[in-house]
Amino acid sequence: MVSFVQFSYELSLKHESEYFLSRPIYAHINSDAMRHNLERVRELVPGSKVWSVVKANAYGHGLASAFEGLKTTDGFALLDLAEAKLLRDMGWQGPILLLEGLFSQEDIFLVSDLHCDCVVHHIDQVDWLEALSEAKHGASSHLPKIYLKMNTGMNRLGFRPNEYKEIYHRLHASGYGISHMTHFANADYVDRSPSVDEQAEIFHQAIEGFEGDRSLANSAAVLWHHHMFFSDWVRPGIMLYGASPSGKYEDIEHAKLQAVMSLNSKIIGIQHLDAHESVGYGSRYKTDVPIRIGIVACGYADGYPRHAPDGTPVWIAGPNGLADGKVCRMAGQVSMDMITVDITDMPHVDVGTDVQLWGNFLPVDAVAQSAGTIGYELLCALAPRVPRTG
Ligand SMILES: Cc1ncc(COP(=O)(O)O)c(C=O)c1O
Repeated sequence: MVSFVQFSYELSLKHESEYFLSRPIYAHINSDAMRHNLERVRELVPGSKVWSVVKANAYGHGLASAFEGLKTTDGFALLDLAEAKLLRDMGWQGPILLLEGLFSQEDIFLVSDLHCDCVVHHIDQVDWLEALSEAKHGASSHLPKIYLKMNTGMNRLGFRPNEYKEIYHRLHASGYGISHMTHFANADYVDRSPSVDEQAEIFHQAIEGFEGDRSLANSAAVLWHHHMFFSDWVRPGIMLYGASPSGKYEDIEHAKLQAVMSLNSKIIGIQHLDAHESVGYGSRYKTDVPIRIGIVACGYADGYPRHAPDGTPVWIAGPNGLADGKVCRMAGQVSMDMITVDITDMPHVDVGTDVQLWGNFLPVDAVAQSAGTIGYELLCALAPRVPRTG
């Protein structure tokens, strides 16, 4: 239900945007960049169909913008029935995959109404689906399509390879059309076990002789392992939004992806500090020499990571705007609505100067790395109070 709340919040922002204009922070969502990134996926895995992963409100970007940018996808994958309903309301008639399937037996009614495909990863879900099949007299046209999930080493969701065959036969006997699915634990690492190779090998051995499509690859596998196996359906998420599956920008620097979300704001105050003064809560940042501090309208209540240390990059516009800007460094503790940045080297900066917290000039991964997290978390954590424009 959170998504409905979030969505109505977004809608109310649209209708009442005049109330929000005075605070300068906003997230620009570039649907063209999303479209470009989807094309990049297609270039990398030309024979595969694409489940565009749009869970968690499209990784924080807003489902409506994601729908706009990703309309040419083959299907949308998400978790939440409320989000599935939104996609249908926006006119999407293609496949929708529920990545965690049914959470309770009652979900089956909405799932059927919304014509969603379901991941099956737990024995209770098999029981519920058998009961549905009995009620529908096994008529496959009235049953959701199934993505049966195999646990090949991620050890999160799915059936072990030795259980898989029996579950497959139970669902098959109940009239379900079944695709096969697994998820990689380490597609963004080179030296961790289980490797992509190992997991793919286990998967292919266990489904040998079974009919049905195979779905294996997340973004990291699409980017870095696409030559090693074929996936009828790939399931990219983070790369569609132009961020790195590994959390390191250098890993996607040459992947020709474009940042989709630009979180922009402005300088709302300037402080001139002498040597041996300090900045903000806890007086964490102490000056050695006189410096100039720019106060930016963005804080942890907007989704900026509170644990970002001094030195975290912030992009400050040059005299001719953001394109002409450069990286400055955070100085002082992030507070609820503001951050403080050392702008000593940028004499033109004044109240009203544009700032980018992350986006097309400053990769979200660079900020995330400095804050000890990954771009995924920053994007997903963008607060509902930040207006999204597109
Ligand atoms: C089952 C499954 N497939 C695909 C994805 C997409 O992953 P990524 O965003 O790393 O591409 C996720 C995301 O967590 C997932 O849980």
